[in-house]
Amino acid sequence: MKYNFDEAVARRGSNSYKWDTIGEEDVLPMWVADMDFRTSPAIVNALARRVSHGVFGYTKVPVAYYEAVTGWFERRHHFRIDKEWVLFTSGVVPALSAVIKALTKPGDQVIVQTPVYNCFFSSIRNDECEMVANPLIYKNGVYSIDFDDLERKAADPKATLLLLCSPHNPVGRVWTREELMRIGEICLRHHVVVVSDEIHCDLVYPGHTHIPFASLGGEFLYNSVTCTAPSKTFNLAGIQVANIIAADEEMRRKIDKALNVNEVCEINIFAVEALIAAYNEGDDWLEELKVYLYENYRILSDFFREYLPHLKVLPLEATYLVWVDCSALQQSSEEIAGSLLRQERLRINEGTMYGEAEEGFIRINIATQRENLVRGLKKIRNIYG
Ligand SMILES: Cc1ncc(COP(=O)(O)O)c(C=O)c1O
Repeated sequence: MKYNFDEAVARRGSNSYKWDTIGEEDVLPMWVADMDFRTSPAIVNALARRVSHGVFGYTKVPVAYYEAVTGWFERRHHFRIDKEWVLFTSGVVPALSAVIKALTKPGDQVIVQTPVYNCFFSSIRNDECEMVANPLIYKNGVYSIDFDDLERKAADPKATLLLLCSPHNPVGRVWTREELMRIGEICLRHHVVVVSDEIHCDLVYPGHTHIPFASLGGEFLYNSVTCTAPSKTFNLAGIQVANIIAADEEMRRKIDKALNVNEVCEINIFAVEALIAAYNEGDDWLEELKVYLYENYRILSDFFREYLPHLKVLPLEATYLVWVDCSALQQSSEEIAGSLLRQERLRINEGTMYGEAEEGFIRINIATQRENLVRGLKKIRNIYG
């Protein structure tokens, strides 16, 4: 391995959202979705060069930025993006919020597939829309889409958008071509636009392939908006950069306006440099990262199988967020998270953040040095083993 993901990096005292919670100086944080690894040296070098310039005035987004975005998606995901389709903003959540504002009116319905990333709920609420759940089916330890329910929900004349999480946080699924086609057909039939959050698209494990929804082709391309970013892939959440890909000119014009109204239509100097370096030079670092993350998942799964067999670890097709069914404990998610924090000083996410029905589930972030991972697993075993 060229990169050392075992190298400990002291994040405490770096104003880290995850590591610097007051009163939790002794807590092992395995919750919020960033990684404890240094990013690719190519990105660090690009940023260092820019810092040493010493002048940080208003910045422009150069052609090289668009080329880096389109090059990455064509090379890695076989998705040919026209530069014209790309709008930049400061994050995927601001992107989603602007897209909802642009393509709905207050009172419209936005469909989500629960359990799902919690900020979907707040973005919908903040734009005065109604959230409609199309709950995923959980059967025999696997999640799938309830297409009949989706068809019914999409048929409501007030249903305007589907917020698709692809790959899916927190259930770890990579949607197949067939699943995406069925979603796309239902949405086309009922004039529901697919807004596909693909922030986790690069962290997909062997045996699975991420298919950008918009790359499915003509009608799907023009009935969708894709939100993406290098932030999960390269651990750049604090740099704040994301892209919206909208092929339909009218939708793009409305989204551009909403970005301007929300005043999130600029990105900073460092975001430009980091994105270009990541997408042009980050491939080999990412390949090694994925190997490390998947080995962490394997270690976690083996540990649960051996010491915590009553708790079910869901298959991880993508992301570094592991979804665990703890329903055998017959405790609420809050009770489980509370006990882990109070007794063992371990912070994980409670399942109910992602949907009311997820009582008894927890989400564990495994993007950390193996030493931390093993320490965290022992903490869970201390209480529930
Ligand atoms: C599905 C999904 N979308 C968006 C985000 C956050 O995006 P950003 O930090 O760019 O706003 C996350 C973070 O965990 C996520 O899981």
